[in-house]
Amino acid sequence: MSSTSIPTLQSYASDQLDKAFKELGAELDHETAALRTPEDREQFRLRWLGRKQGRLKSISDAWLKTAPLEARKALGIHFNQLKQQIEQALESGSAADQAPATVTDSIDTTLPGIRPGHGAEHPLIRTMHEIVGVFERMGYSVGVGPEVETDYYNFESLNFPPDHPARDTQDTLVIAGQEQKPLRDRLLLRTHTSPVQIRTMEQQPPPVRIVIPGKVHRNDAADATHSPIFHQVEGLCVDENITFSDLKGTLDHAMKELFGSSVRTRFFPSFFPFTEPSADVQISCIFCGGKGCRKCKHSGWIELLGCGMVNPTVFEFVRGKQPAYDPKKISGFAFGMGVDRIAMMKYGISDIGLLYSGDLRFLEQFA
Ligand code: PHE
Repeated sequence: MSSTSIPTLQSYASDQLDKAFKELGAELDHETAALRTPEDREQFRLRWLGRKQGRLKSISDAWLKTAPLEARKALGIHFNQLKQQIEQALESGSAADQAPATVTDSIDTTLPGIRPGHGAEHPLIRTMHEIVGVFERMGYSVGVGPEVETDYYNFESLNFPPDHPARDTQDTLVIAGQEQKPLRDRLLLRTHTSPVQIRTMEQQPPPVRIVIPGKVHRNDAADATHSPIFHQVEGLCVDENITFSDLKGTLDHAMKELFGSSVRTRFFPSFFPFTEPSADVQISCIFCGGKGCRKCKHSGWIELLGCGMVNPTVFEFVRGKQPAYDPKKISGFAFGMGVDRIAMMKYGISDIGLLYSGDLRFLEQFA
């Protein structure tokens, strides 16, 4: 018997009708007992009540329409009973769906769901935000610049002339195939965030107070403390009457904000072509408080950043905004710090490579 076929009716005699409907009823019971899922019930509904091919429709077509007048009443009663039985089967089935406690197979909707994981700030980004936040609270704004930079912005305008030995301190990754261009236009991966000092001054006259967080690249072999990619936060302050004391006070305050108020700073002479005088800043060791330990190589101090007063030569490289940057009227200081080292110190990370590994077992500790 095909899915929609119906028993053949020998005659409209009432015993024949009883027999045929009994057969249908038994089949219905059998099918009802096998209903499990909403999909099962939908199949069942189509098979019995479908408007075009449903069995009730077939019965009505084959039996009701041609029935002799005297058989119609009995036939109608049987027909209606069958229809009610089908509807009941469907109703009780979907009621069971609403009461999950009685569902024994298919999907158990009482089980807790799978929560999607929440993202968290990467320790480097978090540290960068912390550093930037310290300077924002002192009135600094935030800037960015390109990671692929020209030789002009990365070196020349910062007073690194071509072939100057100071270029050797920043082993540079250059973009290939540009030998036909003038040196100043050749592209490279910026080795520090300092080019954004020039870009900022080209965009606005003094006063300037800006911090620039960003990614930098150097051709350094990777080990526990070196990575060819790392991060810096650059700072630049230019105004009238800016002195070395302002630089010292600003950085001392920033270090206390970042590492705790008991941290002390000290400044050593250093060299950068774009600052004069230049200094390296050390902070008292945050691990031993300055007594001396393995972390500070028993000196009590940790070197953390470079800084200095903006070299007047640099102001001369600022195009488009002259004579606003007249070294006779204004002065400034700049500083640059390594975010990775600060993050490693703050969070006790011993291998810089972990910051770039994407290993969730490491990263989840910061969630
Ligand atoms: N750009 C220097 C470096 O990467 C750091 C620095 C920035 C020094 C600003 C002085 C002033 O080594």
